[in-house]
Amino acid sequence: MTSTLIRGRILSFTRPPTDIGDNGAYVYEEDGALLVENGLIVASGGYDAIRAEVTDDVVEIDHRPHLILPGLIDTHLHFPQMQVIGSYAANLLEWLNTYTFPEECRFVERAHADRIAGHFFDEMVRHGTTTAVAYCSVHKASADAFFTEALRRNMRMVAGKVMMDRNAPQGLLDTPEMGYDETRAVIREWHGKGRNHVAITPRFAITSTPEQMSAAQALALEFPDLHIQTHLSENRDEIDFTCSLYPEATDYTDIYARYGLMGKKTLLGHCIHLSEREMDAMSETGSVAVHCPTSNLFLGSGLFPLRKLMNREKPVRVSLATDIGGGTSYSMLRTLDEAYKIQQLQGERLNPFESFYFMTLGNARALSLEDRIGTLEVGTDADFIVLSMAATSAMALKAEVVRSLADELFLLQTMGDDRAVVETYVAGQAAKTTIGRLASEDGERGNIFLPLSPSRP
Ligand code: GUN
Ligand code: ZN
Repeated sequence: MTSTLIRGRILSFTRPPTDIGDNGAYVYEEDGALLVENGLIVASGGYDAIRAEVTDDVVEIDHRPHLILPGLIDTHLHFPQMQVIGSYAANLLEWLNTYTFPEECRFVERAHADRIAGHFFDEMVRHGTTTAVAYCSVHKASADAFFTEALRRNMRMVAGKVMMDRNAPQGLLDTPEMGYDETRAVIREWHGKGRNHVAITPRFAITSTPEQMSAAQALALEFPDLHIQTHLSENRDEIDFTCSLYPEATDYTDIYARYGLMGKKTLLGHCIHLSEREMDAMSETGSVAVHCPTSNLFLGSGLFPLRKLMNREKPVRVSLATDIGGGTSYSMLRTLDEAYKIQQLQGERLNPFESFYFMTLGNARALSLEDRIGTLEVGTDADFIVLSMAATSAMALKAEVVRSLADELFLLQTMGDDRAVVETYVAGQAAKTTIGRLASEDGERGNIFLPLSPSRP
């Protein structure tokens, strides 16, 4: 059995930090180490103590002076939207109809889905994201492509074939029966294979008929342990249109509640404009409000009320996500930087320990996966990253005046991106520095001179 000893400054959270001085919320080792065997962390702590217990044939990798953290977790993004990023639109509905739906139609082709899946996982690893919760397209082929690549790379991923049967182009529609049957087939073929998790994924109430919502409900009853993901209360016009489609419901949240889709494994993207009643319903069911800051700013959707949701008498569980391709960066560092600014605009603070908690243990808890990911605890998956606060010349200059761990984290969050990720370990294997090798093996991804696509509708 090969053992690897990874040395560096290690940081892992144990609970949410209450304020910037709350050093009881994390474990930090200035000269720390992780011992990795068979994809798992088998020892975690001070370097000297761990080194004393291992034999001389252990492979040792020294990442000092860099920081070692659990792999970053992105709780909401769209795998078929890599080429939608940066599309010029006034708002959500225009953006969906003009760019996003036509682009997703291309995923009917398995070859296209395979190609984009390769790029998708490259970007995850490049940006230090070791677990992501993804929407595929409506086509089963897109889910097959996604999970095939996740399995090949041995990454812990959550994803679902989107269910949508109205208010979109014909090439993006299934039916209630197809949505049910194909989701069931994806669950049978992929759930629990490698580190794959399948999520039940009705896109949002606008694109699902009541019959399809009933099909999603049937799946949720049949597979109660699976995650459920959809969108909720992102944009005012979206809310009005949605409520007009379900006049019997009290409000947008009540639509999902009526179909039994709320619960501890339910991830609701955006949740910007919720009423107090809706927040109560979220809280009572343990559903998670997924904050997507770069997307909310890019699409002009609104300012997420993070503090209000977290601090009310009936608190709402919250997670953070990129929402590619409404979101504009794959980086969770960039994402938390924008989350910080959204709080600033509302007169609230988001301290750097809290931000790094969210990217790791906080998001793991939101997924109910904290026994596997989000910390550096013994027995968990060896998914972790190495960060450098001096990754660019501008960062290195600022790093000269960093005096504390809080300063360092804030610098990483404010100025960092994929360049700050020195290495990404997936199940104990260095994955970032091998991306080039994978690309040249595959041939195609090594070629940057791709032909321009023909113009699409
Ligand atoms: N609501 C329904 N589908 C989408 C999507 O693809 N992106 C965003 N941001 N919101 C949505
Ligand atoms: Zn989304």
